[in-house]
Amino acid sequence: MNRLSNKVAIVTGASSGIGRVTARLFAAEGAKVVVGARRQAELDSLVAEIRAAGGDAVAVAGDVRSEDYHKALVAAAVERYGKLDIAFNNAGTIGEAGPSTDVSETGFADTLAINLTASFLAAKHQIAEMARHGGGSVIFTSTFVGYSFSFPGVAAYAASKSGLIGLTQALAAEYGPQNIRVNAVLPGAVDTDMYREMNDTPDKQAFITNLHALKRVATPEELARSVLYLASDDASFVTGTALLVDGGISITRT
Ligand SMILES: NC(=O)c1ccc[n+]([C@@H]2O[C@H](COP(=O)([O-])OP(=O)(O)OC[C@H]3O[C@@H](n4cnc5c(N)ncnc54)[C@H](OP(=O)(O)O)[C@@H]3O)[C@@H](O)[C@H]2O)c1
Repeated sequence: MNRLSNKVAIVTGASSGIGRVTARLFAAEGAKVVVGARRQAELDSLVAEIRAAGGDAVAVAGDVRSEDYHKALVAAAVERYGKLDIAFNNAGTIGEAGPSTDVSETGFADTLAINLTASFLAAKHQIAEMARHGGGSVIFTSTFVGYSFSFPGVAAYAASKSGLIGLTQALAAEYGPQNIRVNAVLPGAVDTDMYREMNDTPDKQAFITNLHALKRVATPEELARSVLYLASDDASFVTGTALLVDGGISITRT
């Protein structure tokens, strides 16, 4: 408890899945949280849950493809809570999947816009604010896909998410001197809406589950605890990393 006392955080992709659970955990650990996604009703119910549990949060709905949206999230943190210490840039999409010879230019570009360019735009405004108050922690949600392992039919997703690892390293090197840590978390399969939409039959779920050394997929809570580690002072000397939280999918061949 209280590992994030007196901290102010932004969490994107907070309307569901990993982001929603992480926002709740950040708040339970003492952070004041600005939660973002497009679905206002889901954000409002999350804020209500956090407040009912004694925490503090505010919702700012919008689309991460807009640079103005990232300015608005940072402005909400500063105007309401006075500063920004932590940013979990987690919103993401599978994007246009299927045989790569069929993927459209707009589908590929849009996948990069949501997963990669939006993360850069977010960090650009977050880091500028963090630097004014002595530092901070930025975390991106990447994936093992396209890093340690891949499947057919996910070229846009893999390209966008592995791009986040280069972005992580470049920003970590650039802003380390200002006490800003930048890391990526690389989940294995996590039981969320995205996972269930991608794996919509028992056979597909069994196939994915079996790829993991632990022979199960993660809960969103397991990811949230790893993100909490990177956000907190427990990770005070950790920057520029790609942290696999993947149940061993990267090292398994059975
Ligand atoms: N589940 C897995 O197995 C898995 C594995 C590796 C990595 N990941 C990554 O984990 C992250 C979270 O995904 P999840 O599994 O928790 O799935 P999810 O429940 O579908 O969450 C995706 C989140 O991203 C938000 N989002 C998507 N497009 C957006 C946009 N254009 N603007 C603003 N917000 C947007 C969604 O909110 P709205 O729809 O309300 O906008 C939602 O909150 C993603 O980056 C995903 O790639 C997931």
